[in-house]
This record gives sequence, structure tokens and C-alpha cells, in this order.
Amino acid sequence: MAYLRCIGCGERTAEPSGWQQCQACGDLLEAAYDELAWGTTLTPAGAAEWQRRWRERRQSDRREDRSGVWRFRELLPILNEGSQAISLEEGNTPIYELPRCRRQSGIAGLWAKHQGMNPTGSFKDLGMTAAVSRARERGATAVACASTGNTAASMAAYAAAAGMRSLVLIPSGKIAGNKLAQSMDYGAITCQLDTDFDGCTRVLRELLELAPVYVVNSINPYRVEGQKTLAAELLEQRDWEVPDHVLVPGGNLANSSALGKGFLELQAWGLCRRVPQISIIQAEGANPLARTMREAGGRKLIEVRAETRATAIRIGKPASWKKAVRVLEATGGVCREVSEAEIALAKAELGAEGIGCEPASATTWAGMKRLVQEGFIGKQQSVILVLTGHTLKDADYVMQFHEGRLLDAAETRGWETALAAERRRLWHLPARAEAVKQALDEAAADTLAQ
Ligand code: F0G
Repeated sequence: MAYLRCIGCGERTAEPSGWQQCQACGDLLEAAYDELAWGTTLTPAGAAEWQRRWRERRQSDRREDRSGVWRFRELLPILNEGSQAISLEEGNTPIYELPRCRRQSGIAGLWAKHQGMNPTGSFKDLGMTAAVSRARERGATAVACASTGNTAASMAAYAAAAGMRSLVLIPSGKIAGNKLAQSMDYGAITCQLDTDFDGCTRVLRELLELAPVYVVNSINPYRVEGQKTLAAELLEQRDWEVPDHVLVPGGNLANSSALGKGFLELQAWGLCRRVPQISIIQAEGANPLARTMREAGGRKLIEVRAETRATAIRIGKPASWKKAVRVLEATGGVCREVSEAEIALAKAELGAEGIGCEPASATTWAGMKRLVQEGFIGKQQSVILVLTGHTLKDADYVMQFHEGRLLDAAETRGWETALAAERRRLWHLPARAEAVKQALDEAAADTLAQ
């Protein structure tokens, strides 16, 4: 079974009520295991046997087998025997080829793992099934989070499925409307606060003095356990062949931490021989980790006042920064930042693949272009971009981009031609076939001109 351990002082601890941090030194907690659910140390033959069983479960109709998280339940023995997981059949997301991006970058081994294909449209569902299941096991009746939108949507859905109440704190006017709609739809008590994400986190912490809610923000170590199964699922889809690079967006820095933990544990247990280099991409206006690495060698967090149109990652004081630094160091990855124009362009380019994702996810493709240019990613290497959210999460962003209303002149400078080439025109025509034919001709001419 799992126990909790402080990442700072190493103290073994029971799960604290309230804010989940080490009672001795205040650092973050992580789940650890003396042995996994299968008991003894894994032998190579044992590893192959588990890989076979996990794959077989894909054919099963049992609820826990149909979940892409609980299918790997031996990797996260966090629930007591007999406990039922709260699942919405999360995980099992596709890996897509990106032929257009491959051609553009010259990297033949490029794929996107699309976590936006989860039940509530983002990777958060992997963590939420774990945290909410754990909350219910502990007898909690209400869960809460501060969020830039996706955590809120996911928590609201899983809480509803568990028959629990949920409380969402979001920054007023600074999250994508569709995420807000999800929280409302799934029945969360939804509070917009006149502050940013970092302010919402502060208020949630203060609220714990007044109301006993179970926090499912990513400081919750069980969230990370669910999210780490992405590593196993990804390797399984590649027949356990480890890619050279995995790129993830960085906001509160839990996903990168979880992915790193996942790969490192799989390696420690003999399920893979090496780990990919995990690199984290941030928006230029919300770049605390990039600055922390560059200016403080990863030793001290440099907080920023965050501003980016990729609202999911509009975070200046990331809770899991220490865990993320460790993942960069352990896997040999780097942190880079990309501009608003690069994000918008990358998003439209992914859209043109028929894939689509939300702006925060597109940072990975934008960041990859930079890393190829720098020579950090070599032409013969294999790369996985983790697309964290669905394109429909932020339809306003899409329309504003194509209508030319998204970026201001300063942001666009130097990128005008590239952006113009990706901007799709919305036609408003009289209801006549001739008018549509003319539009077709003009569109064909536009394409040829590019
Ligand atoms: N991509 C999307 C679509 C997100 O919603 C988030 C985080 C991230 C990337 C960054 O992941 O925080 O683990 O580094 N969204 C959180 C939320 C903060 O409240 O929905 P991270």
C-alpha cells in the first residue's frame, strides 16, 4: 500500500487533513511504496507478465479495467481493498501522427498524445479519478479546488459521479467560458473571485480554517498518482519502446511532475530500461519555472505576475515547482518559454492536422520547434507532444485568432506572414450556390498563393 512522504525532509506521514503538506517542514508530499500490489520485487519475466495483463484488460468489461488509470492499478495501490474507484472511463487516449508537423520540423518520429480526449476534455481526469476516489474512501462529503478551469471541470464531474458536493474557485473573467460552463453543468458551487489563480489558491487555503473541504488541487499527492499512469499508457501504446523526448506544458507543474514520477518508477521496477527526456514549455508571460531554471539554477522559485492568453497556464507561483525541477534534472529535460504568437501559430498548425487542442497544449509544438532549432532535439529522435486539453475548451480563442482579433501588433511583430498563412477565413454569404462557388474559387486561389 501507498504511504506519504515529504519531498523535502523525507518524513513519512499520514495524510494530513486540510492543506496537504508536510506537518514537519511544510514541503509537498508524494505517494511512495515499499512494494507494489503484486508483492515481491519484479523480475524481467514478471514485468512482461504484467505488461501482458494490462493489455488484456483492454478487452475486459469490468469497470476498473475499462479505465486507463485503474487498468494499471498495481502501479498505484492507493485505495483500500474493497474500495470502489470513481471512474468515468478516463485515459485510453489516442496517439496521433502529425504528418504536417513532421514535414515542417523534419522530425519523422513525432506524435501527439491527446489527453484532451478524456471524459471532461483534459488530462485532469486521470488525477481526479484517483483523488476523488481517495476522498470518498476517507469519508469526505465535499471536495474543492482553485483552478484555471480544467481542474474545476474535472473535479465537478467526478464529485457528481461520487455523489459529493464540490466547490470551485476560479479567477473572474480569466478562464475559458466552456470550462466555466462545465463546472455549472456538473453542479459545482462555482465562485468567481476577483483575483488570479494564485489568489484563488490563497483563498482556498484560508477557507480550510473555516470549512472542512477535501482539497483536490495537485498538491494532493493522489492526484499525481492518477496522472502518472500516462507514462505507462504511453509506453504500452508504443509496445514499451521509450521515446527520446516528451514535451508537456507547464502551469502549476503537477503534470510534468507526475509524468516524470511515472517514467522513473517504471524504470525502477524494470518495466522500461531508460526514461525519456521530459521538457516543460511555458508561456512567456507565465514563465516562473523557465526563470527559476535560468536565473536561480532551479534552487529557488522566481514568482511572476502571470499573463497569457493560454489561460490554463496563467500561473505565476506554481505549487509543484520543486517536483518539476527534480524531473528536469532526473531526465535531462529543459524548460523553455514561447510567445503568444508562437502559441497561436502552433495551435492553428495542430488544428490543420485535424487534431486541435487548447492554447496551453499548443505550447508543446511551439516549444518543440525551438528545441529542434537549438539542436536539443535531433532529427533522428522520437518526440511525443502531450496535448493536455481539447480544442473545444476554448472556442473563443479559435475564433478570435481566425478573425484577427486575438493578438495585438506588438505580439504579432515578426510573425505576420506565418500567422496570416494559418488564418482561416469565415465566409458570410447570401444563400445562393453561385456565391458559394465564388468562395470556393477564392479559397482555392488563397491556398495556391501560400
Ligand atoms: N494544459 C492544460 C489544458 C491545463 O489545464 C493545465 C493546468 C496545464 C496544461 C498545466 O498543467 O498545472 O500540471 O503544469 N490547469 C490547471 C487547472 C492549473 O486549474 O485546470 P500543470
